[in-house]
Amino acid sequence: MAPFGPALLILLYLASLATSCTEQERSSLLQFITELSYDSGLSGSWENTKDCCKWEGITCGSDMTVTDVFLTSSSLQGTSPRPLATSPACCNLNLSHNFLSGSLPMELVSSKSIVILDVSFNQLNGDLQELQSSSPVSFLQVLNISSDLFTGRFPSTTWEVMKSLVVLNASNNSFTGYNQFSGSIPPELTNCSTLKSLHAGHNKLGGTLQDELFNITSLAHLFLHNNQFEGSLIGIGNLTNLVTLDLGGNALRGNIPEPIGELKRLEELHLDDNSMSGELPSTLSKCKNLIIIDLKSNDFSGELAKVSFSKIPNLKILDVVWNNFSGTVPESIYSCSNLTALRLSSNRFHGQLSERIDNLKSLSFLSIVNNSVTNITRALQILRSCRNLTTLLIGKNFMDEAMPEDDTFNGFENLQCFPKTLNLGNNNLTGVMPKEIGRLKALLSLNLSSNKLTGAIPQSICDLTNLQKVDLSGNHLTGAIPTSVKNLHFLSQFNISSNDLEGPIPFVGQLSTFPTSSFDGNPELCGPMIAHHCDSAETILSKKQTAEKEEKDEKAIFVIAFGAFFCVGVLYDLFELC
Ligand SMILES: *[C@@H]1O[C@H](CO)[C@@H](O)[C@H](O)[C@H]1NC(C)=O
Ligand SMILES: *[C@@H]1O[C@H](CO)[C@@H](O)[C@H](O)[C@H]1NC(C)=O
Ligand SMILES: *[C@@H]1O[C@H](CO)[C@@H](O)[C@H](O)[C@H]1NC(C)=O
Ligand SMILES: *[C@@H]1O[C@H](CO)[C@@H](O)[C@H](O)[C@H]1NC(C)=O
Ligand SMILES: *[C@@H]1O[C@H](CO)[C@@H](O)[C@H](O)[C@H]1NC(C)=O
Ligand SMILES: *[C@@H]1O[C@H](CO)[C@@H](O)[C@H](O)[C@H]1NC(C)=O
Ligand SMILES: *[C@@H]1O[C@H](CO)[C@@H](O)[C@H](O)[C@H]1NC(C)=O
Ligand SMILES: *[C@@H]1O[C@H](CO)[C@@H](O)[C@H](O)[C@H]1NC(C)=O
Ligand SMILES: *[C@@H]1O[C@H](CO)[C@@H](O)[C@H](O)[C@H]1NC(C)=O
Ligand SMILES: *[C@@H]1O[C@H](CO)[C@@H](O)[C@H](O)[C@H]1NC(C)=O
Ligand SMILES: *[C@@H]1O[C@H](CO)[C@@H](O)[C@H](O)[C@H]1NC(C)=O
Ligand SMILES: *[C@@H]1O[C@H](CO)[C@@H](O)[C@H](O)[C@H]1NC(C)=O
Repeated sequence: MAPFGPALLILLYLASLATSCTEQERSSLLQFITELSYDSGLSGSWENTKDCCKWEGITCGSDMTVTDVFLTSSSLQGTSPRPLATSPACCNLNLSHNFLSGSLPMELVSSKSIVILDVSFNQLNGDLQELQSSSPVSFLQVLNISSDLFTGRFPSTTWEVMKSLVVLNASNNSFTGYNQFSGSIPPELTNCSTLKSLHAGHNKLGGTLQDELFNITSLAHLFLHNNQFEGSLIGIGNLTNLVTLDLGGNALRGNIPEPIGELKRLEELHLDDNSMSGELPSTLSKCKNLIIIDLKSNDFSGELAKVSFSKIPNLKILDVVWNNFSGTVPESIYSCSNLTALRLSSNRFHGQLSERIDNLKSLSFLSIVNNSVTNITRALQILRSCRNLTTLLIGKNFMDEAMPEDDTFNGFENLQCFPKTLNLGNNNLTGVMPKEIGRLKALLSLNLSSNKLTGAIPQSICDLTNLQKVDLSGNHLTGAIPTSVKNLHFLSQFNISSNDLEGPIPFVGQLSTFPTSSFDGNPELCGPMIAHHCDSAETILSKKQTAEKEEKDEKAIFVIAFGAFFCVGVLYDLFELC
């Protein structure tokens, strides 16, 4: 045993008998809290107790040294928690969700004791200062500086001393510069890195993705979404440990290179909102652990069927909306029985849906809007077997095909396609307002203005108890206003002007609060709030006429049901998800 052995043992023994934190820990914690401009009364409560292990937000280990400083969401205000860096033993430092401002003291980052540092959701700002490569090696493993107000160039040499860093979360700041992303990744980091997670999404980072990034082979999670990176994915095949790759919302070009197939652990691939193009490599099916493939809003082309989806059995989400894919919907997709969302809209797919779609028992979202799929009767017949469908958007297909039979629409019990706002104004719609409108219980706003609707306002409109806005103006609606309209307690806007409505306005509830302009242009309407007052004969007449007109022309049922259900034309922009 080395000569200092017994002394060390005695020290350890004494430490294990320690009953309170050290004086130095106590004083650096107190110094930190008293330097704040607002401390939520913590300093007062801390000063009352000698043992800092008993302080609110402080945790000690069994040897009575501070292990955790957990002061999140404590409304702390002021600058720099610098004193904490000198605390000898500490620790995991979590100061997230406060109002700390000023720059980040690099002493915290290069501290020999801090292992986890989370200062996210504060107002820390300015540039991150560089740590020189000669600085002592940092012990930090997790650094979360996200959702602060940092600006300026992303530091480069700093990472050279962060030899233990496993997770870096720098997302949602305003880091810029970084013109050579590569240049900023120090060779030491790329060569023998421990870095597993790099989060720097929602910044203003730019420049070309280069070899150095693709050399950080330890990376399992790479999030660089919503930046301004350019370049291509050549070299991605090196990152064989990747589980999550999110490069969405950048300016990447080129295709997905064949070596993507080397990423055997990949579970999430997000390349959405870039300018990528070309055909998908068949090697993508070698990434057999994929759960999410998000390629939306690029310029990919060719047949999706190049990828054998049957080899990706865990796939849950496939989103290729707004690309230039052609060919038929690949048969192999129907093998992915765990698929919950499939969005193929706004491409150039053609052909008919396969009855094998009934294998997709978990499918709840399907959109094929704006393609050239044919045979709507068949599509609806086979989609009925997808019992879990809640959203089905298939409009802008089936050109010139005949409307399917009425009962084809049955069997979609779970469907909720309908939006909270139904705006079908200005569409030259004809026919009557469908009674079925009463089923759209979630509706907050209904606009059917400036159409050619005829017949009565259905009583069922009163089932829409959440309605806040109703605009039925500029149609040819007839009959009386349903009296139960008074039950629409949340109504704040109501317009039935310029129709042929008649009889008394139910002068109750919300209806009594609307201006006369809500009712103008209906010569046969009467009521105390408008010029035309009612006599008793009018009341009786209107009831009779309503009854007569009730069973008329049902055409609008189709137009409206079809419109909303299928997300066609005018409704297109209502459904962001189409
Ligand atoms: C810090 O605390 C917040 C709030 O409890 C928590 O969400 C976060 O995960 C913690 N940070 C770390 C790195 O554990
Ligand atoms: C900060 O990031 C780390 C690592 O990514 C994470 O564990 C932690 O939960 C994040 N903190 C908050 C408050 O989200
Ligand atoms: C980004 O940070 C701001 C404050 O800095 C915060 O309000 C916002 O919620 C953050 N966004 C995300 C997506 O975390
Ligand atoms: C990174 O921090 C943000 C908060 O700004 C948080 O929403 C996100 O979950 C963190 N990332 C990880 C992987 O923990
Ligand atoms: C990186 O590793 C290679 C080979 O293992 C070695 O030749 C090179 O010197 C290393 N570079 C640095 C900067 O450590
Ligand atoms: C990437 O790593 C390889 C192999 O370790 C090395 O030869 C190459 O120089 C590295 N490239 C860069 C740009 O660091
Ligand atoms: C990355 O891949 C390229 C070829 O694709 C190779 O030259 C390089 O050595 C690889 N780097 C590492 C670190 O494996
Ligand atoms: C579907 O998911 C479940 C769990 O969510 C999993 O156990 C099952 O293996 C998956 N099915 C396939 C075919 O991968
Ligand atoms: C879509 O792909 C076809 C070839 O398959 C090509 O002619 C056309 O220009 C592409 N359209 C767009 C918008 O890229
Ligand atoms: C269908 O949806 C229900 C409710 O969301 C869920 O419990 C069930 O597991 C789903 N069925 C399949 C086959 O995914
Ligand atoms: C459309 O589908 C129906 C029923 O599945 C089938 O009978 C009919 O032949 C199909 N029409 C065409 C043109 O393929
Ligand atoms: C509505 O129909 C009228 C003629 O009936 C026509 O002049 C007008 O252009 C149509 N409006 C729309 C939006 O189709």
